[in-house]
This record gives sequence, C-alpha cells and structure tokens, in this order.
Amino acid sequence: MKSSYQSKIVSAQEAVRHIPNDSLVVVGHAAAVPQLCSQAIADNYRQYSNVRIYHMLCLGNAPYTAPEMRGHITHVTNFVGGNTRQAVAEGRAEFFPAFFYDVPRYFRNGLLPVDVAVIQVSEPNEEGYCSYGLSCDYTKPAAECAKLVIAEMNKQMPFVGGDNFIHVDKIDYVVEADYPLHEIPLPKIGEVERAIGSNVASLIPDGATLQLGIGAIPDAVLGFLGDKKDLGIHTEMFSDGVLQLVKSGVITNRSKQVHKGKLTATFLMGTKALYDFVDHNPDVDLAPVDWVNNPTTVMQLDHIISINSCIEVDLMGQVASETIGLTQFSGTGGQVDYVRGAAMAEHGVSIMAMPSTAKKGTASRIVSLLATGSAVTTSRCDVDYVVTEYGVAHLRGKSLRERAMALIAIAHPDFRPGLQEEFARRFPSA
Ligand code: COA
Repeated sequence: MKSSYQSKIVSAQEAVRHIPNDSLVVVGHAAAVPQLCSQAIADNYRQYSNVRIYHMLCLGNAPYTAPEMRGHITHVTNFVGGNTRQAVAEGRAEFFPAFFYDVPRYFRNGLLPVDVAVIQVSEPNEEGYCSYGLSCDYTKPAAECAKLVIAEMNKQMPFVGGDNFIHVDKIDYVVEADYPLHEIPLPKIGEVERAIGSNVASLIPDGATLQLGIGAIPDAVLGFLGDKKDLGIHTEMFSDGVLQLVKSGVITNRSKQVHKGKLTATFLMGTKALYDFVDHNPDVDLAPVDWVNNPTTVMQLDHIISINSCIEVDLMGQVASETIGLTQFSGTGGQVDYVRGAAMAEHGVSIMAMPSTAKKGTASRIVSLLATGSAVTTSRCDVDYVVTEYGVAHLRGKSLRERAMALIAIAHPDFRPGLQEEFARRFPSA
C-alpha cells in the first residue's frame, strides 16, 4: 500500500513550503491537530505574508498565535480556548461568530474559501482509505474543498469509521508521523456537579438519545444514568464518560431513529482509553459536522436530549454561553444546533446545566441583566430547561414573570434576595 503514496512523502518543513501567501489554510483541530505541520508553519512564519489559519478547538501550544506572527500569519476561529484567548483579546487573532454545523457551508460558498487543508489521518487500509480518525467535523469538508491537501499520517491515529475517510489519491503531500495524540484529563466531579447531574438525569427517560457537551457536568450526568435503559448517543463530541455506560449495556443506541445501533459524533476527545475503544470499532460512526450537528438531522431523533452549559442566564431566559462580558471566552460551538434540533424533534428537550455561581461563589450565574457586552448564544425563544444544583426551571412556553420566578427558585440562596428585589421592580403587581 505504501507504494501508492511513496512519491508523496515529504518532511513537515517541505510540506508547509507549499502554502502560498494570501491564502486561507484550514488546520485540523482538537485531538487531531497535525502537530508537526502546525509547528513547521510557525517555525517558518517569516516566509509567509497574509496567511490566515482557520482552526477551531486548539489543544497543544497554538504556535501560530505568538505575537511575532503578526503580518505573516493570522489565526481565525469561531471557538476560543485557553491557549488562544489572549491572542483574540489582544487583536492578534480574529474571532467570527458561527454555528458549528454551518462552517463547511462557508468553505463551499466562498465565505471561507479553502486554499490548503492541513490535516491528520490514520494509516490507510488495504483499499487505500485513511480515516480522519478522531476529527471528522469540518476537517473532511475542508479537505474536499481545498486546492491542496497536506496530511500527517500518524501511526497512532485510531481508524474510526462512518463517513470519515479520505483516499490517499486525494492527498497531495504525506508527512509520516508517530506521536501520541493530545489527551484531555478526566474532569473532577464535585458535590455541585453531582447535584446538577442528578437534576439533569431526572429529565432523561429510557430510550433517550443524548447530546453531551464536554466537561465535569456531562460526566456527572452520565454517573446518574446507571439505571436507565437503551440510551443512545448522537452528539458533537463524546469523551471517556460514555465508556462505562456502553460496557454496562445502558447505552445500546437501539432506540435511535438515525444511525441505529451506533455511537454518533463529529469529533472525539478524551484519554487514550477512549482512543483505544474507538479504534476499528464498528459501533462508532463519525461524520461531518454539517450532517451530525445539522438541526434537520437532530430533529429526526425522537427523545433527543441536548445537554450544554453556559456562563450566565438572565431573568428572561437569555443564555450567554461564550462570553464573560466583552471577553470572548469560548464560542457558539454546536450549542444552538442542538437546542434548535431538539426543539423541532418529537419529545426533544434541551437543557442548560450550570453551577448557580462562578468565581468561587462570589458571582451568581442567574442574573437580572447579562454582563455588559455579553453575546446571547441561546435566545430566550430557544431556551427550554435551565438546571443548577438547586433544581430545574422549565422556561419554554412560560411568561417573563413565570420565567423569572422559576429561575430565582434555582439561583444560589445567597443571591435570591437581590433577584427578588429586581423581580418586584419589574413585575410590581405580581
Ligand atoms: N461571571 C464571571 N466568570 C464566570 C462566569 C460568570 N458568570 N461564569 C463562568 N465564569 C468563569 C469561571 O469562574 C471559570 O473561570 P476559571 O477558569 O478562572 O475558574 C471560567 O469562567 C469557566 O467556567 P466553567 O463553568 O468552569 O466553564 P466550563 O469549562 O464548564 O465551560 C462553557 C462552560 C459555558 C464556557 C462551555 O460549556 C461553552 O463554551 N459552551 C458554549 C459552546 C457549547 O455549548 N458547546 C457544546 C455544544 S456540543
């Protein structure tokens, strides 16, 4: 098989020399970031002029966001992480708001015309197909639109099935690699997360299909689902938390209307245990984000339960999930894709689950007004359930007065008096 791409093998340094000036380069992300080429691009930054690099979730050291890249390389993204936040805040990198499911369309319709895709793939199978491994999401659509495809072929990238393959013939340059993938540690689950998990679990019936965000709250929810039956997974991403429920037979994916019997996601991120589990596993399907996250796909799943988190919710039910005031903290991601898909599904439910406070208990996340400059991620017409460690507030269909009452009831007790004063001002006759 190697003979079919032998002539395409180059070093990372050689591969990135083919990136032209004034171009848009789409780089794979999360656990599948092509580490050798990313570093080579940054090392060679002086050779570039006006190269824009789109990638989404940045694990690792985001080398091309360093201050000296200015004028040579600009990072553009619709999701900010810990290692790109500073660059965005200082105007050295650019953030654009977008629904995750919509990004591949930007590649195709010219809003983000892809010149070069720099991706990571598995070694090919007998027929010459490499798997995109842990990240199909926007990576496969970008490679299909790009004029030039540079692929790091990592021996350690799992071979994951679904609509998740590229043939070696479609790759222009192959960079051979053998390095461990980025892992994210298992989250720490405390008392608050456990209480939230228990409250969320009370909304999940047998036979439900789950979309889970990342972090301690989704994992805490999974910890309370041991007694449920025939749950399914259709989600932007999943992590190690689902493995136990698959092994114990709680997650069977039997009740799903789409991809019955399969764990469906658009990318995966977790520990080596997860990566080993998904490797050559016929029960795991990855597909591009414009299909997986598309609300018109999500709506086909009866009993889809979407579980996401947020920064603040105001008394009308407006949800700020990606900004802290004017600071862009993360991004819209797939939150609204699933909130809207769930709203259109038979028996679909969407849940915003968050601790009642932030900043070590000094700030309420349920607020009378969102912090100045906040972006509303999920609108008050889209919001459905809000859950904290103090309970469940069901907002859909409720009046502004009823919403405010329901939200105050699940705020931290220390902040309820202040919120009640605001309630009395807004609804004087109540
Ligand atoms: N005021 C001030 N600071 C706040 C705050 C508030 N209301 N709410 C949170 N923060 C701070 C926290 O204190 C914490 O700071 P620290 O890192 O210094 O401790 C930080 O913001 C992160 O908060 P936390 O609740 O720990 O974040 P998280 O890792 O659980 O992520 C979101 C929560 C909302 C940022 C994340 O879920 C997100 O980006 N959501 C939008 C996209 C999405 O939903 N994607 C999934 C779709 S499939």
